[in-house]
Amino acid sequence: MKSEEVFIVGANGQLGTALRELYPNARSADIDELDITNKASVEGFDWSGIKAIFNAAAFTNVDGAETAEGRKASWKVNATAVAYLAEVAQKHDITLVHISSDYVFDGTSDLHTEGEDLAPLNVYGQSKAAGDIAVSLAPKHYLLRTSWVIGKGNNFVLTMKSLADRDITPSVVADQIGRLTFTDTLAAGIQHLVDSEAAYGTYNLTNAGESVSWADIAKVVYEKAGKSADDVTPVTTEEYYAGKEGIAPRPLKSTLSLDKITAAGFTPKDWREALDEYWQTIEETN
Ligand SMILES: NC(=O)c1ccc[n+]([C@@H]2O[C@H](COP(=O)([O-])OP(=O)(O)OC[C@H]3O[C@@H](n4cnc5c(N)ncnc54)[C@H](OP(=O)(O)O)[C@@H]3O)[C@@H](O)[C@H]2O)c1
Repeated sequence: MKSEEVFIVGANGQLGTALRELYPNARSADIDELDITNKASVEGFDWSGIKAIFNAAAFTNVDGAETAEGRKASWKVNATAVAYLAEVAQKHDITLVHISSDYVFDGTSDLHTEGEDLAPLNVYGQSKAAGDIAVSLAPKHYLLRTSWVIGKGNNFVLTMKSLADRDITPSVVADQIGRLTFTDTLAAGIQHLVDSEAAYGTYNLTNAGESVSWADIAKVVYEKAGKSADDVTPVTTEEYYAGKEGIAPRPLKSTLSLDKITAAGFTPKDWREALDEYWQTIEETN
């Protein structure tokens, strides 16, 4: 698909930024130009010439979604707005690419396949699960489930690097297990599905490789930052959140099966290799 035929929504987020880099001539908008929760704006938008909408917009503040305001905001962006986009996609014969999360599952299986029953544990996950259902209103849709996203923006790797640079010795949860997903891998996977005209439907897409804990990843980041892995103390989720209010319950096992996306011809690289490349880019920009 040509760049000019793509419209990127939520363009200033981590994934939106990577998509804009991959599709330099795409049209794009963030909330200030097109608020996807505004039905009239979505319906009245000039969709002529657009063959695919890439929806990178989301309410991603997992604990924030547990508040009264956050609950409304996350449902608006992650669920209701997806139905609006699906409606215009259907009306204008546009392919809708939407992104979802491992948080739609309860995290009890070691490996989540695309067909697993939805069983979200927190408000963010519930609103994302509703979005998964809404996107299927668009006949031509790709629903991509991903986990632990790292790109340009606030993310776990940059947070750990910042702590390491300041000689802070953090406690990090060691019982949530999954794999990182770098936004350039996610964007490349989206491009592959669209360009190869893969069957519409749901695909998991994360980086490949060993499933590890947040603490394991923090230790790798500390070593990359020239510090000791021992500066990171592994703790349980329960220990980490003890005494804190308003914390969303989180799934413990987040690894998504990559069999389907691989069978569709896209092989995501190992997260460790992707982290090496990411590290080079952040060192170059500092
Ligand atoms: N981050 C993760 O670890 C993770 C894990 C699994 C799945 N995902 C999913 O992956 C996708 C991309 O995540 P990400 O990390 O790139 O998210 P992100 O960095 O938080 O970006 C989301 C973008 O959406 C924009 N947005 C919010 N409300 C909007 C609205 N009403 N209309 C238009 N734009 C709006 C945000 O703008 P403001 O900043 O101005 O609000 C922001 O630019 C999301 O669907 C997310 O649910 C993320």
